[in-house]
Amino acid sequence: MKDTLFTDIGRLVGILPQGVKQLCGKEMDRVEAIDNAFLLVKNGKIESFGPMENLPTVSADVCVESLAGKMLLPAFCDAHTHIVYAGDRLQEFVDKINGLSYEEIAARGGGILNSADLLHSTSEDSLYLQAKERLEEMIAKGTLSMEIKSGYGLTTEDELKMLRVIRRLKENYPVTIKATFLGAHAVGRKYVGRQEEYTELVCKEMIPAVAREKLADFVDVFCDAGFFPVEQTAKILSAAAAYGMRPKIHANELAVSGGVQVGVEFNAVSVDHLERTTDAEMEVLRNSDTMPLMLPGASFFLGMPYGRAKDYIGAGLPVALASDCNPGSSPSSDMRFIMALGCIKMKLTPQQSFNACTINAAKAMGVEDLAGSITVGKKAGFIVTNKVMELGFIPYFHHTPFIEKVLY
Ligand code: NIG
Ligand code: FE
Repeated sequence: MKDTLFTDIGRLVGILPQGVKQLCGKEMDRVEAIDNAFLLVKNGKIESFGPMENLPTVSADVCVESLAGKMLLPAFCDAHTHIVYAGDRLQEFVDKINGLSYEEIAARGGGILNSADLLHSTSEDSLYLQAKERLEEMIAKGTLSMEIKSGYGLTTEDELKMLRVIRRLKENYPVTIKATFLGAHAVGRKYVGRQEEYTELVCKEMIPAVAREKLADFVDVFCDAGFFPVEQTAKILSAAAAYGMRPKIHANELAVSGGVQVGVEFNAVSVDHLERTTDAEMEVLRNSDTMPLMLPGASFFLGMPYGRAKDYIGAGLPVALASDCNPGSSPSSDMRFIMALGCIKMKLTPQQSFNACTINAAKAMGVEDLAGSITVGKKAGFIVTNKVMELGFIPYFHHTPFIEKVLY
């Protein structure tokens, strides 16, 4: 973004002081705003903001743009996505409608392995073109920071192919992208029945190859019933730790898996899903530096229970929400829909849900110093709404268009 002074902002929403890394418990109840405000962007960062009475004078090389009374919000952060995938899984969508469960489809060799087969026969260029369309949709819907995972390769070569696509997205779009290596998303087709050998491959071949090309910021494991048990998860996390990759793991989607405990033990940046958790998981997360991240889009699509976000907040913990956009369990990257599910299904207030989709989501992908709030020094990336409205209108009128433009 060019150096710009935005004037006549009807309402500037989502303001936080410098140094706030996350919001916990009651802190999530508030979203600060200034009516009739200005905001100055310099060198791609927020330089200052405040009420129009304090409008600064700027040099002639700074653009001045009036927002004519509209509302300006920080862009959404989506800390858990799988937007690099080939084709679709429409047939499984229909199978689910006809009564098969996600686990039954996976057990028949469908699901993630189905996506891996498709990805194997797709060129890197074609995969890039498919992923870039999804990224552009996310941007248009107001998400400017996103984590993207591998995990549909399941061979060294195909995992690298996916991560190179993510690297190309990083190079070509001025948004904030974090890459996560998810070689342990499922046991690759050739290793079915030999899970321990597959785990060895992940640890000894895939992780070193990914690290050599510096392709991943984080490491992920699907630590759940029918997927990777805790002991193998620990092996993978410890192999990745040797290369400085912090975990962000899938845990407790299908069962209480021990994933939260092993994630916290390895100082995960977040533990994700948590559709099934007991109070024990909450206690483990307290006093950790690990964000509980919940994915209501997957609960919605698969008809699973929703994460206990309200209980977490009630217990003084932080909570973040993400889309989990993927072709099998959550085929939408719309963070406004996620914010609405946070309110409608998880019973968060609009303010709590907004904080879960912005500042806490930024923390869940390690970009809290760059994104997630209107704060001096953060990267410029905003949603301009089509009129001034209560924050609650965004989840309440959950499918009424509300974005006029996205600025970045
Ligand atoms: O987060 N749970 C594991 N992975 C994805 C689903 C991936 C797929 O089905 O393609 C998830 O829900
Ligand atoms: Fe996921």
